[in-house]
This record gives sequence, C-alpha cells and structure tokens, in this order.
Amino acid sequence: MSHILSAVAWPYANGPRHIGHVAGFGVPSDVFSRYMRMRGDDVLMVSGTDEHGTPILVAAEEAGVTPKSLADKNNRIIAEDLVSLGLSYDLFTRTTTVNHEHVVQQMFEVCRDNGYMVIQDTSVAIDPDTGNTLPDRYIEGTCPICGADGARGDQCDNCGNQLDPQDLINPVSKVSGKAPEFKIAKHYFLDLPQLADSLAVWLDEVEATGEWRPNVISFSKHLLEDVRPRAMSRDISWGIPVPGWEDQPSKRLYVWFDAVIGYLSASIEWARRREAAGTGTKDDWRAWWNDPEALSYYFMGKDNIVFHSQIWPAELLAYNGEGAKGGAPGELGKLNLPTQVVASEFLTMEGKKFSSSKHVVIYVRDVLSRYQPDALRYFISIAGPETSDADFTWAEFVRRNNSELVAGWGNLVNRTAAMIAKNFGEIPAIGKTEPIDDELLGAVRGGFDTVGELIAHHHQRAALAELMRLVGEANTYVTRTEPFKLKAPEQRERLSTVLGTLVQAVCDLNTMMSVFLPHSSNTIDTVLGGAGDLAPMPRLVEVEDLDGGEPYPIITGDYTDLHPWAPRDVVPGTPIAKPKPVFQKLDESVIAEELDRLGLGEE
Ligand code: MF3
Ligand code: ZN
Repeated sequence: MSHILSAVAWPYANGPRHIGHVAGFGVPSDVFSRYMRMRGDDVLMVSGTDEHGTPILVAAEEAGVTPKSLADKNNRIIAEDLVSLGLSYDLFTRTTTVNHEHVVQQMFEVCRDNGYMVIQDTSVAIDPDTGNTLPDRYIEGTCPICGADGARGDQCDNCGNQLDPQDLINPVSKVSGKAPEFKIAKHYFLDLPQLADSLAVWLDEVEATGEWRPNVISFSKHLLEDVRPRAMSRDISWGIPVPGWEDQPSKRLYVWFDAVIGYLSASIEWARRREAAGTGTKDDWRAWWNDPEALSYYFMGKDNIVFHSQIWPAELLAYNGEGAKGGAPGELGKLNLPTQVVASEFLTMEGKKFSSSKHVVIYVRDVLSRYQPDALRYFISIAGPETSDADFTWAEFVRRNNSELVAGWGNLVNRTAAMIAKNFGEIPAIGKTEPIDDELLGAVRGGFDTVGELIAHHHQRAALAELMRLVGEANTYVTRTEPFKLKAPEQRERLSTVLGTLVQAVCDLNTMMSVFLPHSSNTIDTVLGGAGDLAPMPRLVEVEDLDGGEPYPIITGDYTDLHPWAPRDVVPGTPIAKPKPVFQKLDESVIAEELDRLGLGEE
C-alpha cells in the first residue's frame, strides 16, 4: 500500500470551465484516483480554484465587481460542475482561504531565507488606467521581427519568435487599449540558476523510470537549457501579500507562485479539517509529503507543464534547501518532488481551438444539463487528448454514445438483467460449465490485471478500449450461447449456467467500469440487486474558513468503504427486476441542435 497524492490542476475562477478543461485535468485524475483507491492505495486527491492573478482581475473589472466576488461566484459554479461529473476529490478548496495564504507565505519565507528568492530591478509594463502590472500576454502590438499586427508581449504567433513587451512596435494594453508605461521596479525572483543542477538531477531520475510521457519529459528537459531567474512578485493589487513588503500593498506574490503551493496547502487543510472533525490529526498530510516513499501524480493540460516540471519543483527544492546555496527546510519538513507530471494534450472542438471570448466553447454545465455525466466521461476517457490533441465533435459524441455506450455496454447490462428477470426473477446459479463459459469468465477476470495496469500507467484510452473489448466478448457470448432459445425444460439447467455466467461477467465488468463511469456503475449495481453504492461519490459541503475567513463550499467525500479492484462473486438468489435502460440513446437531431447552439449549424 502506498501513499499517493493525486494533484489536480487548479482551474482559474475567471469563468465557468469548458469540456477541454475537464478533459485535461479532471476526468483522467478521477479515473486514476478511483482505481488506485480500489487497488488498496491511500490516495489523497486535492485541488481547488485558482483565484489570484490578472485573469481574475481583468474579468472582475469587465463585470464591474470585486475580484473576490467574481471568484466567489465562479468557485461555486466550478465546484458544482466538478461534483456533478463525479470527480472524487478528498478536498477541492480555493486559493483565497486564510490557510492557503499562511502556507504560501511560509514557503516564501523559507525559500527567501535559504537564499533562493532574490530582489532584482526589472522593467515592468503598467496599465496607465489601473496601475496594475500587465502580464506579457496582455500587451499587443506590431511584431518587430516580421511586422505582423497582433503580436503579444511574450510571442508573435505569426513568426513564432519569443518577444519582450518593450520590443513591440506601438504596444497597447489589452485591458485598457492604452499604451503601457514601462518602469523599473524591484521584484522578488526565484533564483532558478541556483536550482538548475538539482532540477536536472531530479529530471534525470524521473526520466529513468520510463514512466513520463515522452513529450512531457523532453519539453521539461528542454526548459533547462535556458534558465533565468523568474519574477515571483507583481505590481498588482490582487494576490497574496509579499512577506516583508506589507507596506507595499500594490505588490503581491505572482499567481503561479501561490497556485502550485495549493497542492500542499490543500493537503494541510484536509488534515486540519480531519482533526477538527475528530477523524484524524492535523499532521496527517505529512504521509504524502514528507515520506520519501510516497508517490505524487500531477494532472493538467500541456500549457501547465512548465509550472509543474520547473517552477514547482524549484520552489520545493528551494524550500528544502537543496539548491547550490544549500539551506534547510522549515517547519513543513523536507517536501517530496513530483513523481510524475501527467500532462495531456489539447482538446479542440469541431476542429477549432476552444476560446471563451470567441464563443467557441462548450461549458461543462451545459453538457451536464442535457446529457448524462457518464456520456461525457466516456467520450473523454475513450477519445480524449491523452497523448495527442483530440477533437470533440457532436457527431462523434452521439455516435460513441449510441453505438458504444448504449448498444455495447448498456445493451449487455440490459439484456442480461431482462433475461434473468423473465426466466428466474433472481440471479441463477452456475451449474456445470462448458469451455465457452469458462473462457468468458477467464477473460473478464484477466481484465483486472490488463485494464488495471493500463490505468496505473496513465494509458486510460487503451484501458477503456480493452474494457469495451471485453464487453464485446460478453455480447458475443450471448450471440453464441443463444440463451433466448433455451426454452425447453431440459435446457433449464444450461440456461441457468449461461445467465449465471453472464451476470457474473457483467458484475465484474461493472466493477472495472466504475472508475470510468461511476454514476452508471451505481445504477447497474442496483440493477444487479446491489445497494447502488459501488462507486463512492463526492459531495459539496458548505464550510467555515478554519482561520476566520469567509465560509465557502468544498468538495469532499468518504472513499474508504470500497469494493476492491478484484472479481466478486454474485450471489445466486438475489432478486433481479425487469431493468430500465441505464444509458440514454441520443437522437441524431442532437447534432444539428448543438451545432446551431455553437453558431456552426448549416444555413
Ligand atoms: N489555473 C491554471 C490554469 O487553469 C492551473 C493552475 S494549476 C496550479 O491553467 F497548480 F498551479 F494551481
Ligand atoms: Zn512576428
């Protein structure tokens, strides 16, 4: 049994999340966590909303509300959506808690005292209207290299060159439309050059495991070729105050400095809440962070890789005192670096890049209001952007739903239960078996190893495809054994064995399916005469801030009472009623309707 930290990227609270987001960080982390728990590991799955930084501030200004109230609203929407998808967080919190602020400041102070946070003069772009720093990508102008308009302060999309905002010709702020003012300001920089050797050692170690996806490891190593100190404070009025600079409220910690610390602060909050509830101690988080045997997996979209394979490990090394300047860890003790950064690629939509501002977007909430959560989870798991970009189209969503989920798995469950209800009214016993029966049960049992190993190594598409192949085998078994023709009294024993075999196969397949499709697995568990509690579900709970801040909703759950990842004998005699279909078949007209909603319909 291992301690496994499932560290899930923190969605920005600048708006509701779209299906590309949950395809990147959401569903894969849940499938993995559910599986590892069933395997017997001690999983701690944490995340929350990322509520600081310019994106929130800009969205709040546009909406004419305070950043906090914008974050409050979106935090709730996002938490509700993630719960509805069945994502089994041990704690989903937020970055505006007092606990988070304390942990972030504690990390900062130790990194600084160990010598890895250095003050430097730097040129910063300021929006003349707001006085806030403009991040590079919020400045646009003409590219000094190729002359294209609309180049951003960090990069020109036309020629691909990296830029500095000062180089742009006629730069304007995307926030106010005015020319930014450049001024020299003092900021704290994370001294990456002093940490680079240790980062390289760590990357070599994790590369040697052969577990990281090739593009993630090569991208991460590539980053080490050009390490410079990176600014960890900003001229902005929204964010965590910089310790020691309390007299300068217009300077705050950089949002990415604080957000990645969320994994740690959320683990600490989880333990503090357990102590408050009398179910643990406030130090319980240490088993995931201080024990070098503990494993940690970080789930995200590929645009987050640099922050998880460079900035976050560098913060941890700096805190631990493990860079070229030495040092010693603070009260939190020596902290573990990531075992694996599990980054996925991008999901596009009908061939286009998601963009909320261009209305090329499908929100999680809208999908869940019209379709079953497991239909979306199925699509993401079988066709998501695991190792290459993937496209979501409504035509493919409907096709996969109807021909795979409904006609494959749903039909198998349905006809198994229907035939049993009609012929026996209860689970029949398996009598003398024939090779075909043993073969089916052998194949399904074997799935616990093959499917499990694939999930353990983050090959979820292949895992679900293998599971669907086993569903196909079970459907073929029905075609070949033709139980519906076994009507004569002398065939009753054979009928009992065939349907007994079939329901055993369905039960075991359902156990494995529960990590991908928890909602329907619970329904199917009921169809099979169970209590409908195969897959534990997360819940939204309103809580007090532990340190006197404002109350907020969290996602949490009790995932300890689990069916293990193993076959489980069905009990002959368990009553089985005529079933209702578990999955909804979608009318083809859905495709045109949805394309119309996107403004992509035919004229
Ligand atoms: N908010 C970021 C995004 O949506 C992800 C932050 S992950 C964290 O891209 F770990 F830094 F929080
Ligand atoms: Zn250019």
